[in-house]
Amino acid sequence: MPEPWWKSAVIYQIYPRSFADTGGDGVGDLRGIADHLDHLAWLGVDAIWLSPIYPSPMADFGYDVSDYCDIDPTFGTLADFDDLLERAHAAAIKVIVDWVPNHTSDQHPWFVEARSSRQAPKRDWYVWRDGDPATPPNNWRAAFSDEPAWTWDAATEQWYLRLFLAEQPDLNWANPEVVEAMHGVLRFWLDRGVDGFRMDVIHALGKDPALPDWPDELAGIPASALNDHESTHGILRDLRRLLDGYPGDRMMVGEVYLLSTAKVAKYYGAGDELHLAFNFPPLYAPWEAGPWKKRIDRTFEELDPIGAWPTWVLSNHDNPRHRTRYGGSEARARAAAVLLLTMRGTPFLFQGEEFGLEDAVIPPERVVDPGGRDGCRAPIPWTADADHGWSGRDPWLPWPPEPDARNAATLAADSQSILHLYRRLLALRRASPALRLGSWQALEAGPDTLAYRRAAGDDERVVILNYGDAPIAIEGSAADTARRLVVQVASDGRGEGRLFDGTVAGSAAVVLGKGET
Ligand code: GLC
Repeated sequence: MPEPWWKSAVIYQIYPRSFADTGGDGVGDLRGIADHLDHLAWLGVDAIWLSPIYPSPMADFGYDVSDYCDIDPTFGTLADFDDLLERAHAAAIKVIVDWVPNHTSDQHPWFVEARSSRQAPKRDWYVWRDGDPATPPNNWRAAFSDEPAWTWDAATEQWYLRLFLAEQPDLNWANPEVVEAMHGVLRFWLDRGVDGFRMDVIHALGKDPALPDWPDELAGIPASALNDHESTHGILRDLRRLLDGYPGDRMMVGEVYLLSTAKVAKYYGAGDELHLAFNFPPLYAPWEAGPWKKRIDRTFEELDPIGAWPTWVLSNHDNPRHRTRYGGSEARARAAAVLLLTMRGTPFLFQGEEFGLEDAVIPPERVVDPGGRDGCRAPIPWTADADHGWSGRDPWLPWPPEPDARNAATLAADSQSILHLYRRLLALRRASPALRLGSWQALEAGPDTLAYRRAAGDDERVVILNYGDAPIAIEGSAADTARRLVVQVASDGRGEGRLFDGTVAGSAAVVLGKGET
């Protein structure tokens, strides 16, 4: 049996509001994505994941959905979506859409009905509790604020649960009608031809029916980062059966926002739940060898025994970009690209990391996200022109730093740019069975380094990363293996095509192999 596509794929996250605008309103749209498929094909990604594009009041910029089966006019129409899907497939790029099953918008007709009276047929599609308006039903906290995870509905005099904003009431997945309705949503998109789903806060769907308090020491953590109830696994097995009933290896990758790889591992089930799960502890690791080694070891220790395939993410729309987190250095961002694209597992890129973008500086009067995540969501500069390829109005958020230099056109014209580094790494990965699906073995290379060997059959690659700022001569088990290999890609371009000389520059990484590439 050939391995499913998503194991060897590199998946590129698009945050549609900020990718490319054709409508002239300063907000990106589906046509903008279609217009830039050539960039993605040239870069060499296998699939795109679109953050939510559905009708939404945008309290959480699309993660508050008011209709799961349509497109928000800001982004275009269903016809635009079909066109994008067709053009992406023609370019051999798969398309994954975001699915937000834990909560709807408070403007979704389901919630409008549910809220209308205690007797409303859809009342039980959400989670309601009695109480007095001064005392929330339990000590759960919402995300993005210090507020309780409950909102008092004055008209019907009950609390409703919302792990995020008050505008995002939680659905009641214990109600079979909710399950059926949400399965219908998946079928709607599967029938249209999507290749899979990124499933938002998937670990939160099943809740302890007693909704008990968290112990005091956990009570300050948002409930959405704690909820880990058994009942979610049955929900996931049903979703898996639904997807597997379609031809073509449709895939679901779940956002399991539990900051423990052991907990994340459970959401793969016995190969009958999520195909892939995000594992965020590495994203939160500092730019240091020790913490990275620990998190990599932990990932393989937890996932390998159960046959689960890892994922690797450095940046997304919820966290400061990794270049920013790692101190702003381009050298580190380049070394990080080598790490991300040579790991064993499925890498996820976030739009703009191939341009070495940092977070935008957002002046207080332009902050729009309730969770303070605007910086990483800044628009993508496509050209060096004044409008950076964004037709018409200024974009909805300020530009990231140095858009005159860090834009697609300028970087494409420079063969030494970080953009070309990403492209070469993607090409190397695609051509190498060892990097795509091969084994992973740790090597010793000395202090401040991370080194590993990837192998499949005769194909062998060695990766050495120097986290320190000073150049190093490598030692240990990596040294002997490495000296007979050729530098295929160096994050700083040094020594490419030559026999490895045993040294790695500060904040740099190399990929070594038997021949030139
Ligand atoms: C996920 C999304 C985030 C969103 C939240 C609520 O964590 O990644 O952007 O705000 O869920 O839907």
